[in-house]
Amino acid sequence: MEKTIIVTGGAGYIGSHTVVELIAQGYKPVIIDNFCNSEKSVVKGLESITKKEVKLYEGDCTDRNFMAQVFAETNPSGVIHFAAYKAVGESVSKPLAYYKNNVISLLVLLEVMKEVNCNQLVFSSSCTVYGTPEKLPVTEQSPTQKAISPYGNTKQIAEDIIKDQVVSDADLSAVALRYFNPIGAHPSGLIGELPLGTPSNLVPFVTQTAAGLRNELTIFGNDYNTPDGTNVRDYIHVVDLAKAHVKTLDYLSGKTNFYDFINVGTGKGTSVLEIVTTFEKVSEQKLNYKIGQRRPGDVEQIYASVDKSEKVLNWQTELSVEDALRDAWNWQLKIG
Ligand code: NAD
Ligand code: UFG
Repeated sequence: MEKTIIVTGGAGYIGSHTVVELIAQGYKPVIIDNFCNSEKSVVKGLESITKKEVKLYEGDCTDRNFMAQVFAETNPSGVIHFAAYKAVGESVSKPLAYYKNNVISLLVLLEVMKEVNCNQLVFSSSCTVYGTPEKLPVTEQSPTQKAISPYGNTKQIAEDIIKDQVVSDADLSAVALRYFNPIGAHPSGLIGELPLGTPSNLVPFVTQTAAGLRNELTIFGNDYNTPDGTNVRDYIHVVDLAKAHVKTLDYLSGKTNFYDFINVGTGKGTSVLEIVTTFEKVSEQKLNYKIGQRRPGDVEQIYASVDKSEKVLNWQTELSVEDALRDAWNWQLKIG
């Protein structure tokens, strides 16, 4: 029988791509989303790709009665918890909204999971927990550092909450996936990232500039101690990232009273300038950009060690930054 997996935030960027991969691997995903940062049309895109009906509950993960009702009706074997606010800058101006949404949704979720004896959890964490790393690549043994934004702090708090809950609950098993920089879109062009307003992330800004929606990209500093002076990140194709979630459910299968955290990246650092030149190559056009000031809070360079993810998840990335930029551009052309 198909296992039901609740996917909170399943209409969002990473969640929607994960729903596709869950269905491909024989799971039955059930989306919970309040569409605070996504659109209902995502479900149509999902159904076109998968040729399956996708079950959706519209509601808020901080609403305990709603969550209890969904869990009672669907009897899930596990949960992938994506639902959260994610804009680093906005979290500085709206800290309470971030703590409320990101922390309370997790508390409600863990309580409801306990009530219905649903014992497997995959949580969306971030490489932001490592702050400015002393050594590269960043392994899971690298020390975490005090978060510099309320958003980053919600991820650290959430990891601690999950770890403590596992200690108290003999049945629960959970993994926090620490994502590096997800980019790209589904190759079909039917789902992708839908940034509201001016994007703060690099790739949506690049594709919107190329599409003529923005005048020019500003590269935030070229005087860093990196090969070309611009920041280095580990950009991972969102489809590879989505597949890592399915592998994590396999990893959790049969485990009880278990907590782990795993980096999910490619192991390769790419500079901002390299993103620009690779984008120019795949889109066959020049990008209008200038070099500007450093952006406060940016880490000089960070990329993942992938030893643990390869070993314990039996998972590797299959797609390149070039693939991701091609798919991001294809998506941009579709959404206009
Ligand atoms: P997203 O905003 O595209 O998706 C989040 C989804 O959750 C949206 O559809 C939104 O409507 C929904 N949502 C938010 N709060 C909700 C609530 N209270 N109840 C119900 N639905 C709610 O974001 P994403 O990029 O897909 O990120 C998914 C997760 O991964 C987040 O937890 C984010 O913090 C984490 N993450 C993202 C990145 C990144 O660069 N995209 C990096 C590291 C970690
Ligand atoms: N950048 C520019 N110009 C832009 C936008 C970004 O030069 O207009 C640069 C940034 O300075 C940075 C790189 O592109 O060097 C990537 O920036 P993003 O904003 O796309 O991504 P970040 O690495 O800053 O942040 C991402 C996620 C956060 C998460 C963080 C963890 O967006 O949610 O990784 O390190 F917290």
